[in-house]
Amino acid sequence: MSTNPKSGTQNNNGHSDVALDVRDLRVHYKTPEGDVIAVNGISFKVYKGELVGLVGESGCGKTTAAMGILRLVQPPGRIMGGRVMLDGDMDIINLGNKELRRARWTQIALVPQGAMNSLNPTMRVKDQIKDAIETHEGRQSKAVLKERTLDLLALVGLPSRTFNMYPHELSGGMKQRVCIAMAIVLNPILVIADEPTSALDVIVQRVVAQTMLDIKKRLGVSMIMIGHDMGLMAQMVDRVAVMYAGNLVEIAPVRAAMKAPMHPYTQLLIESIPSIKERKPLKLTEGLTHDLRNPPPGCIFQFRCPHVAETCRTQKPPMLEIQTRHGVACHLYKPEETA
Ligand SMILES: Nc1ncnc2c1ncn2[C@@H]1O[C@H](COP(=O)(O)OP(=O)(O)O)[C@@H](O)[C@H]1O
Ligand SMILES: [Mg+2]
Repeated sequence: MSTNPKSGTQNNNGHSDVALDVRDLRVHYKTPEGDVIAVNGISFKVYKGELVGLVGESGCGKTTAAMGILRLVQPPGRIMGGRVMLDGDMDIINLGNKELRRARWTQIALVPQGAMNSLNPTMRVKDQIKDAIETHEGRQSKAVLKERTLDLLALVGLPSRTFNMYPHELSGGMKQRVCIAMAIVLNPILVIADEPTSALDVIVQRVVAQTMLDIKKRLGVSMIMIGHDMGLMAQMVDRVAVMYAGNLVEIAPVRAAMKAPMHPYTQLLIESIPSIKERKPLKLTEGLTHDLRNPPPGCIFQFRCPHVAETCRTQKPPMLEIQTRHGVACHLYKPEETA
């Protein structure tokens, strides 16, 4: 898989405007029946201050990709290759363990899938946030801790009384916002939130999504938000990245993705967003057509693609930046079209 060398733009100060540059990241799970190829060489960038929505059906490798980016993949999972460049020149994949520990939270932070259910039930919110701060910055005075924590709570839209509360006294949305507060506590460059709105009711989903947007605006932090609700994503993200069976098939500015999706899988995903105005039959057939242990040669989407051609059976389409910040991995689009 290749990335377009032209896309690594520099701003006027000579600093890169790229917060995260993932290059050919591969993650396998070792099983007795062979390797599950959960992330099959994905490449993409997240620009500074940008919110990228990572979508794709359950099991397509979104969580594994996030864990790969943070180098938190647990056995039997293993990172098989690739680079994860943070803020220009820090390669997460090749950092020493000490530097890696420092980079997590201070540079790149995670709101894990199901985070709100893993808050410590015996600790008040203030003590959980204190722990997060002191683990990385050492002991702090009580007054400083209180001020920072109250600021953080306000930033995620929680009332100050949350400070003294226990997790069981909070609603799901409030718990999720505590987890988001803990992720941004050290002002990271990038936050990855894995399905932060799943398991919440639709109203609360929107409140949590809005919280993420507020934080992005106020702190200028870059974000990857994993989810499968295309409708919600469309309203909040700057770009949408679409995964299918371990592969990134398209990454596009959200308007382009909604109005003129290029990859046939993205087209099916967009068509499947329910609409009241226009009731349409569902085109998408569910489920994978191959075993992740045994991906076919050629394009990963060939078995479900309405446009499948001979080349698609033999050659894997590279990810090409067809338009500015719009990449697609599909033989329907040729490199000559690159402007
Ligand atoms: N510990 C594991 N052992 C084997 N396969 C795994 C393991 N964890 C995840 N997988 C497989 O990796 C693929 C990607 O999983 P995951 O990253 O959780 O997908 P998503 O977050 O998109 O739902 C799935 O097919 C899943 O079954
Ligand atoms: Mg997941």
